[in-house]
Amino acid sequence: MAREYDLKPAPSLGGDETAYGAGKVINRRQFLKYGFNTATGVLAASLGVLGFTALIMPPDTEGTGGEGTIQFWAKGREDEAWYGAKHEVNMTRQDFVDEAAKSSTGTAGAAGIWNGVPVIVVYVDHEKNKDTPVSLGKARFQMMEGYDETGKRIGHFEDMSDVDPRIFPSDNIVIIYGRCTHLCCIPGWQLVSNSFTDDSWTPGGGDDGGTKLFCICHSSRFDPTALEMNSNRNRSSGATFSYAGIKASGGPAPVGLPIIPVLMDGDVITGITDYVDWLTYCD
Ligand code: FES
Repeated sequence: MAREYDLKPAPSLGGDETAYGAGKVINRRQFLKYGFNTATGVLAASLGVLGFTALIMPPDTEGTGGEGTIQFWAKGREDEAWYGAKHEVNMTRQDFVDEAAKSSTGTAGAAGIWNGVPVIVVYVDHEKNKDTPVSLGKARFQMMEGYDETGKRIGHFEDMSDVDPRIFPSDNIVIIYGRCTHLCCIPGWQLVSNSFTDDSWTPGGGDDGGTKLFCICHSSRFDPTALEMNSNRNRSSGATFSYAGIKASGGPAPVGLPIIPVLMDGDVITGITDYVDWLTYCD
């Protein structure tokens, strides 16, 4: 049974806080100006729940050969998460296949730690479902147009995956960087029970249907099946960069979460470290 938490309202900083539109109460300039203290406070609350406190650090790409295994992370949820008994054990594809078989949507997700950063790994039965009529509502990956925080179109997911096909989820698995684009809390897989985290799926990357990653801090939702081009800013320099990611479907998060390309090592899931610009939007 998933835990239930009281959601906090997003912090209001006054001034031009409506720049992101309805329901988005902090803009990027304010984030850069106030983000450190605000995000640290919110982050601490989130980490307290998830027990990631000592683990946030830049990816250690040295000595990994450009890859890195992922360990399940279930600290504090050992008795309730399906992977509770696998805490700090390397993730394998079979773990997810077995769990997804219990799901009506053919999906399963878990929190993990990859090169010192939090990730969420989601299995989607894409190969089985991709050729079924969408009207049947069978979960599959969808490649979509992407937009920046102002709503301006910035490109299509295929613009990136055509250049580097490794970006497309491999073996039905997508690895997602686990820091919210709102204020850097750590979204989770079925950490809470609500309509957004139900075992249900609706095509289009919208906010209806379940199977969302849900950020407990201010209720942002992300669709792990909706793949798009995203953009964000380096927190220190303000420089804009684009990345392949999943779609923000609702809540105050201005853009989606980054994808880490998958490389299977036998049955063990590893993430490729070629793309790490996104690390800079929080740290
Ligand atoms: S940090 Fe605010 S919704 Fe995630």
